[in-house]
Amino acid sequence: MTDAPTNEPEPQQRWSAVDRYITDLLVPADPALEAALQTSAAAGLPPIAVTPNQGKLLELLARVQGARAILELGTLGGYSTIWLARALPTGGRLVTLEAEPRYAEVARANIARAGFGEVVELRVGPALQTLPELVAEGTGPFDLIFIDDDKGNYPGYFEWSLKLSRPGTLIVGDNVVRDGAILDPGAKDPLTGDTDLIRGVRRFYELLAAGVGGGSISATAIQTVGDKGYDGFALVIVEGEDQPPPPAAATGFEG
Ligand code: DHB
Ligand code: MG
Repeated sequence: MTDAPTNEPEPQQRWSAVDRYITDLLVPADPALEAALQTSAAAGLPPIAVTPNQGKLLELLARVQGARAILELGTLGGYSTIWLARALPTGGRLVTLEAEPRYAEVARANIARAGFGEVVELRVGPALQTLPELVAEGTGPFDLIFIDDDKGNYPGYFEWSLKLSRPGTLIVGDNVVRDGAILDPGAKDPLTGDTDLIRGVRRFYELLAAGVGGGSISATAIQTVGDKGYDGFALVIVEGEDQPPPPAAATGFEG
């Protein structure tokens, strides 16, 4: 058998085309989210927000989780923030941390335009400074934490996230595969050329492995392809005794 000549597009084109197909069918166009992307691009923010179908995944995860309090590390232009805020019930709240004041300014306008100005608290400053402040203030625990900030600091972000968690908290980590570069401890990040990034993500995995081994968390990671290339998400549930039961109304069981 000979290999038939194919007109297969390059993988990235194919991944982008499939993301378009999925998004056209399942993720309705949305003025507030589109405006968030447009203003972010116009302001020169890097085009690294989650894709629409990934944003929708974040919203669905937050709904499955019944999240009332959400923490996000790395606001960028507020695109994922808006997706997550949409999952909140009345009275829910979201704290998002952004190191770069210029990004935060763009995000603040986008979040307000989407109608979440009162629901979302945006804190400006390096997350390794603002996270200890949240802990010191007794903020939390959060039901869902989305880690999407600079990859070199993922180990620290994860440790602080645990302090802001309760048993049952879902922690989601973005960008944990990086084109497969995580296999090589000395690898340069394929997007930035930085070796600290890969070291940080690998150390993050080591912390997850230690937590899994010790029984304090349950975790997995999933590789993804799509419009943003080849990357992945980590999913972590914080284990523990005093996980609050779902409300009786939700289970249908009473008394
Ligand atoms: C980068 C950061 C991200 O959060 C992402 O989703 C993709 C790329 C980056 O810094 O290159
Ligand atoms: Mg990301």
